[in-house]
Amino acid sequence: MMKNLKETVAFLRSRGIDDAEVGIVLGTGLGNLVTKIKVIKELSYNVIPHFPIATVEFHFGKLIYGELGGKKVLALQGRYHYYEGYTMEQIVFPVRVMKMLGVKYILLSNAAGAINPDMKKGSLMLLDDHINLQPDNPLRGPNYDDLGPRFPDMSAPYDPSLNAKIKEIAKAKEIDLNEGVYVSVMGPNLETRAEYRFLRIIGADAVGMSTVPEVIACNHMGVPCAAISVLTDECDPDNLKPVDIQDIIETAGKAEVFLTALLEELVATYG
Ligand code: HPA
Repeated sequence: MMKNLKETVAFLRSRGIDDAEVGIVLGTGLGNLVTKIKVIKELSYNVIPHFPIATVEFHFGKLIYGELGGKKVLALQGRYHYYEGYTMEQIVFPVRVMKMLGVKYILLSNAAGAINPDMKKGSLMLLDDHINLQPDNPLRGPNYDDLGPRFPDMSAPYDPSLNAKIKEIAKAKEIDLNEGVYVSVMGPNLETRAEYRFLRIIGADAVGMSTVPEVIACNHMGVPCAAISVLTDECDPDNLKPVDIQDIIETAGKAEVFLTALLEELVATYG
């Protein structure tokens, strides 16, 4: 794995990708931020050595290097999910590459279902904490001591100063930003009514199928990270309607304007 990482990093450096300051991972239906990036280099995942081929059709699977808010950023448009059959090590490979390319912090986004009844469809939720219900962990197996410790601390998985800045920007821009606990499940099916009740009881505010593996890898490497969910549906177990994936993607697209504004300002003003 370390050898592959080094080869990928050497390849990207040889393509001129060598001084990114911020890493960005864009979730399902949330690729629009890249339209704000002044692109220097764009590479399809399938030309990057050791990057798994992206499968989900609405994920573009592109690595974009360019300028946003006066900073050099490295953005991943399209991420890997465990339900697609990738290993956890494959899923976190891109964030490890970002770290080795020198990014100072990593921002992640995702689409999630709102479990907290006070959180409305179409609003955003800043992750304050998470619960990992994925059936596997990216740090399972021999520890890569060059990357981080065997038993990484998770007492503050989302960087407090990044989160403070995000809240400040949301307030100034009057963006509806909730804050809460994200639970990551494997999927790909959505949850049953009993499962939504269970997730609420154990303390989750929103549920999705991603992000936590990457956040674990970031914490392992000591890379500050922050994550924002776009809440695409309301998961009320007593009034549950069949979920329409097209509707989820459409809602993600509408709320994305706010996510884009938030991240753009953050990159311009932080660090
Ligand atoms: N459950 C899991 N993942 C999701 C949901 C949901 O309700 N909505 C968007 N992603």
